[in-house]
Amino acid sequence: MKMPQIGLGTFRLKGQDAYNSVKTGLEVGYRHIDTAQIYDNEEEVGKALADSGLPRAEVFITTKIWIENLGKEKLIPSLKESLSKLQTSYVDLVLIHWPSKEFSLKETLDELMKAKTLGLTKEIGISNFPIKETQEAIDLIGANNIYTNQIEIHPFLQNKKLVNFLNEKGIRVTAYMPLAYGKVMTDESLKAIATQHKVSPADISMSWLLDQNFTVIPSSTKKVNLENNLKTKKNFLSKDDVVRIQTLDRNDRLANPGFSPIWD
Ligand SMILES: NC(=O)c1ccc[n+]([C@@H]2O[C@H](COP(=O)([O-])OP(=O)(O)OC[C@H]3O[C@@H](n4cnc5c(N)ncnc54)[C@H](OP(=O)(O)O)[C@@H]3O)[C@@H](O)[C@H]2O)c1
Repeated sequence: MKMPQIGLGTFRLKGQDAYNSVKTGLEVGYRHIDTAQIYDNEEEVGKALADSGLPRAEVFITTKIWIENLGKEKLIPSLKESLSKLQTSYVDLVLIHWPSKEFSLKETLDELMKAKTLGLTKEIGISNFPIKETQEAIDLIGANNIYTNQIEIHPFLQNKKLVNFLNEKGIRVTAYMPLAYGKVMTDESLKAIATQHKVSPADISMSWLLDQNFTVIPSSTKKVNLENNLKTKKNFLSKDDVVRIQTLDRNDRLANPGFSPIWD
């Protein structure tokens, strides 16, 4: 199954909130769910998927291997545990959540390729990989084996250098935190553009990302926002709007833990 361009993020959502968001998301039409081992919600995601009654083949599921599971001993067993929580025999995509300082990339990619051969995942990919680390992955398994690089992109962190590199290499870009965790709603420029088009600042950010052919994975706990994000219209921003959004880039990185790689 091809990855739908809009997916449902689940970071921070735990327990009943995670279940409700995914259950409602599937009801309103999402067919792409993004989770991760570290989110501690794979069980709830799995339950919502099972309760939705949708055929497994109709939903694209991504999970991510947490940093401590990236070695030979733990990767495949941890993926099998994720599959069991998700109540499925395969995921559509599995990502290396962050580049590892502990395990060699070769070791991790070898295990991921093995997982693919075993049918535990359809595709493999990377997340939070800057240019240097992405190039290493390309050298090891080829760009054609890297389904996507999932990275933070929103109007305040446009990540242009890395995006240009990924476009050059033909690697799909997935934009995470597309609403800058809600910050887009209070930005004066985005508010002004939104007023002009009679939409919300969230629509402006989503649309701007979709127009760049990124896959986009917003999260929400509210039905109205879930619906709105899924229905985002494309190709209505003018050249002037785009230029104005480009000026908002200020390297405002929200996901920047201590173990982050050196960013581009
Ligand atoms: N690979 C990685 O390392 C990584 C890191 C971070 C995130 N991610 C992925 O990316 C996904 C998205 O990022 P995120 O969840 O951190 O942030 P986000 O999607 O940018 O923002 C979510 C926030 O925006 C609000 N919101 C959603 N839709 C809205 C709308 N239409 N109007 C107004 N407010 C709206 C939500 O509040 P309500 O609940 O009130 O709607 C929530 O507070 C994550 O869930 C996760 O799957 C991946």
